[in-house]
Amino acid sequence: MLNCRVCGAAIKPLMSFGRMPIANGFLTPSQFSEEYFYELAIAFCEPCGTLQIVDQPDPGKMFHEEYAFFTRTSKRMVAHFASYAEWALSRFLTRPDPFVVEIGCNDGAMLENFSRRGIRQLGVEPSANVAAEAERHGIRTVVAFFNLETARKIRDRNGPADAILAANVICHIPDINGVARGVAHLLADKGVFIFEEPYLGAMIHKGSYDQIYDEHVFIFSAQSVKNAFRPHGLELINALPQTTHGGSMRYVLARQGAYPVSEEVERAFANEREQGLTRAETYEAFRVRCERSRDELAGLIRGLRRDGRRVAGYGATSKSATVLNYCGLGPRDIEFITDTTPIKQNKFTPGTHIPVRDHDTFAKDYPEYAVLFAWNHEAEILEKEAGFALAGGKWVKYVPDVSIS
Ligand code: TMP
Ligand code: ZN
Repeated sequence: MLNCRVCGAAIKPLMSFGRMPIANGFLTPSQFSEEYFYELAIAFCEPCGTLQIVDQPDPGKMFHEEYAFFTRTSKRMVAHFASYAEWALSRFLTRPDPFVVEIGCNDGAMLENFSRRGIRQLGVEPSANVAAEAERHGIRTVVAFFNLETARKIRDRNGPADAILAANVICHIPDINGVARGVAHLLADKGVFIFEEPYLGAMIHKGSYDQIYDEHVFIFSAQSVKNAFRPHGLELINALPQTTHGGSMRYVLARQGAYPVSEEVERAFANEREQGLTRAETYEAFRVRCERSRDELAGLIRGLRRDGRRVAGYGATSKSATVLNYCGLGPRDIEFITDTTPIKQNKFTPGTHIPVRDHDTFAKDYPEYAVLFAWNHEAEILEKEAGFALAGGKWVKYVPDVSIS
């Protein structure tokens, strides 16, 4: 029997995306034969409202010294984190000599905004290579997973945290109760825990099933966040929608009773009830939509290839692993995927083994069609790639629907 990672209730799989590799596991041909696969299935827990993946690969297989995702690859995300930091600073860090901790600080793009102002900060990051990049930018980091033990060490050495921040990280951690215990230990009495994540409401609304991959063990809603942290004495005091990553939510939590609860929280709950996020039928409709999207995208690309068209991909995102593997698209369908991340270039996509190439490969000899896998960076990319459209290139998109433009 399967049990919910949040509340322990019995859960059952709702749908499967089939055999999946590690989403950020870009590889070389010599590694093809020993590639690791698992089955990517999801379940919805009705009692606590949490959507979760059923089996998650061991975190050590995903977050290690060759982790392929660097926050600084997106200018807009760097700007977003500057405004996130500014907002946290002006709202919650008014005490003298505040201390800020970031869970999953990656290359330090967020914490740099605090270190620049001389604010005490510390990043916790299990992937040693990205943590080293943060250190290069003057960010203090501990290479570790965040849990009660890590929280104890941090508090013993630095005192309590006035703010614990995270972005696109909390949903990565299967032991969510361990995170909550760590936060409850480390937080100052009036401290705040702020994190933002791809939002379940946005995923259901857009049919963006590619938010589901090994690293995203949970796709949270305001209701599920409230339920996950309440047993640990942490209260959801604000929930603020964000446009990043195709629709995210920023959650603010504090010790029970430490702050008034914003009316945004009730508004988020009401929207979620109205959208049906608390009901099992919603997820059944989502399953049908995913299957339709898969058939349409695979059909479209195969049709283009039959007509002799050149099709490439834009952005070898972690999300694209779910799409490519679920839709069964390989190097015969997609010639290459362009990506600006050096560690991904000249490697092959996980599971489907499509070559990843630098930006020049794309720009010097435009394909006729480019599948926009980095759809969450659409505005930034379409602006940058105006030349592709001018040269007659067409974008293939699949969120919210399969389309060519
Ligand atoms: P993300 O969707 O998880 O943020 O990953 C974005 C990926 O897309 C990352 O590998 C970098 C890549 N990318 C480009 O190649 N060009 C771009 O202009 C942008 C914004 C991202
Ligand atoms: Zn549950």
